[in-house]
Amino acid sequence: MSSLALLKSNFIKKYLNTKKMKTLVLLAHPNIAQSHTNKTWLEALKNSNQNVEVHDIYSKYPDWKFNVTEEQDLLTKYDRIILQYPFQWYNMPPLLKKWMDDVLQQGWAYGEGGNYMQGKEIGVAVTTAGVKDVYDESHFGTVEQLLRPMESTVKFIGSKYIGYHAFLGAYTPDAGDRLTKDTDAYVEFVTK
Ligand SMILES: Cc1cc2nc3c(=O)[nH]c(=O)nc-3n(C[C@H](O)[C@H](O)[C@H](O)COP(=O)(O)O)c2cc1C
Repeated sequence: MSSLALLKSNFIKKYLNTKKMKTLVLLAHPNIAQSHTNKTWLEALKNSNQNVEVHDIYSKYPDWKFNVTEEQDLLTKYDRIILQYPFQWYNMPPLLKKWMDDVLQQGWAYGEGGNYMQGKEIGVAVTTAGVKDVYDESHFGTVEQLLRPMESTVKFIGSKYIGYHAFLGAYTPDAGDRLTKDTDAYVEFVTK
């Protein structure tokens, strides 16, 4: 390789490295051992060999007592964070709500000196039992509408809301086939 070509290739590698964001998947599934959909997503993610860490808060904190400093230190390492969970009562599972209450503290995530979440990209990966037809305005609301409080929270702490990836109707007869087709799109959403 000529010295010019080498210089060019080193520059491109350096540029790609600085552009490459590290991603954290913050998983909040109350029973991941019995999960099918979320587990399948995570297996696809693992097989994709992408630079993603999965942080499973229900497994790590069975007593629901967070090590807040450790959680905050973890967040500071990532530019892109995906909150992944099954819908429960059209909302996030309760441990994720408690995690937000405990970890996203005033003076850290918002308020004076609270700038540690500024500029990060945050998105949601969500699964539901409810089928596509019920997630509209005339029934339970669209997924986008139901995720609005999450979007507001992300904006409030100065992060950028990057939207969501959803798998609806986890138990329909064709769910297995749909999920197999969906995993690439899920991995793309998490890692892009
Ligand atoms: C307590 C509880 C509440 C739930 N609430 C909802 C809900 O509001 N809407 C919905 O579509 N599914 C609801 N579900 C179903 C889960 O979202 C569904 O089982 C899950 O997304 C499937 O993914 P998994 O195979 O990874 O567990 C609920 C399940 C439980 C246990």
